Amino acid sequence: MSNFEGKIEEALANPSNQGEMVDADSVGTVGSPDCGDMMRMWLKFSEKDGKKVIDRASFQAFGCQTAIAVASIATQLLKGKTAEEARQLSAQELAGDLGTLPPMKIHCGQLVEGALRNALDPGENATTAPKDTLLGNINSGKPSKIRIVPLEA
Ligand code: FES
Repeated sequence: MSNFEGKIEEALANPSNQGEMVDADSVGTVGSPDCGDMMRMWLKFSEKDGKKVIDRASFQAFGCQTAIAVASIATQLLKGKTAEEARQLSAQELAGDLGTLPPMKIHCGQLVEGALRNALDPGENATTAPKDTLLGNINSGKPSKIRIVPLEA
């Protein structure tokens, strides 16, 4: 098993911050055009030293193990960051200790990055209420609520 796979397994053994957040301030949802996987991320902000920072982040995924592992690590990394600082983070940075994502897995990290960016800047997705669940949206027959974001290559 490679070092990367070992770290993925470690992150998956006890994933952090998985599940919807009922009191979230914002939510972002993306689908990957590469593999069809989907991810939703919720953010809750609080005031710290006069700055608005991310207090909590959580995620729900219909995605591969790498995407779940990256989201688990990313939601931990995001704590205490301002929206501006969070916006600067690349998919690779969000993967933290996982190390360099293999070329085949870069889009998995980008799925997490996309969900975060969508939560930070909801845009046309603003109609998605933070309490909506990803599964609920899919089952509701209202696919327009799921925004497919073309991810950068
Ligand atoms: Fe789809 Fe990883 S293969 S997100």
